[in-house]
Amino acid sequence: MTRTLQKDSHGPFAGLRVAITGGTSGLGLALVRELLGRGAHLALVARDRERVEGTAREHGRAHGIVGDVSKKEDIHPIAMQIIGSLGGLDVLVNNASDLGPTPLALLGDTDCEDFERALATNVLGPFRLTKALLGALAASARDGRGAVVLNVSSDAAINAYSRWGAYGTSKAALRHLSHIWNEELLAEGVRFLSLDPGDMDTPLHAVAVPDSDPATLKRPEAAARELAEAIAAALPARSSREARAGAAGVEVDSS
Ligand SMILES: NC(=O)c1ccc[n+]([C@@H]2O[C@H](COP(=O)([O-])OP(=O)(O)OC[C@H]3O[C@@H](n4cnc5c(N)ncnc54)[C@H](OP(=O)(O)O)[C@@H]3O)[C@@H](O)[C@H]2O)c1
Repeated sequence: MTRTLQKDSHGPFAGLRVAITGGTSGLGLALVRELLGRGAHLALVARDRERVEGTAREHGRAHGIVGDVSKKEDIHPIAMQIIGSLGGLDVLVNNASDLGPTPLALLGDTDCEDFERALATNVLGPFRLTKALLGALAASARDGRGAVVLNVSSDAAINAYSRWGAYGTSKAALRHLSHIWNEELLAEGVRFLSLDPGDMDTPLHAVAVPDSDPATLKRPEAAARELAEAIAAALPARSSREARAGAAGVEVDSS
């Protein structure tokens, strides 16, 4: 079934080129829908081919990319497909995540392989993908379109929750990485955000806290709206984007 999304052709996302990792489930899928609805051009990345192709098909204007952000050898193919499908990049959302051992375990009982996979997915993957896309993002900033990297964080990045060691450690590192990237690239106009979406009713949460009541959790759609607003606030005002993009000969989609 092809969903028809109401396209916002005047807001800050109209014509913006956005890539989202983990765009087939939970918050990532909600962000895909939210940003497509706001007129973005979008590429989504995840490992399961069937779900990637299904999500892309369902949403028509989204490009599906099959890849594993935890694997070094997948990063450049993912980055090339993002640039190839969108013709550049304005916004990268590093959203894909790994919980570490499931069920969650004390650090002393955590297998090194589970710890390694959480770090590879939640820190090293976003670092590698950002690095591979930095040229495109800096070019976008230079053209006045704006460039934003949102690294999806968690309260586990700050609070030392028992049994969340692999995930919490990786999210703390991702948060710090975001702040350092932001310091280093502020002058080039590439902004980095590290934001906690809150406890949401998603498959990841159901695995992490199986006895939680979904009714008490935030809807991923609500978190996606909040994150979209935060990205929009970090972008240059649309009028200056249009003016600079026009001057630089970059097409701003206003159809
Ligand atoms: N849910 C919460 O309560 C909560 C709270 C705070 C923060 N967060 C954060 O919010 C973000 C989204 O979480 P969620 O709850 O929406 O998770 P989710 O429903 O489990 O979705 C995870 C998505 O990431 C993809 N993915 C996982 N590993 C990947 C990899 N190695 N390479 C590429 N794609 C991968 C999955 O697809 P495939 O399996 O097909 O790859 C899926 O599309 C995460 O960063 C999470 O840490 C969540």
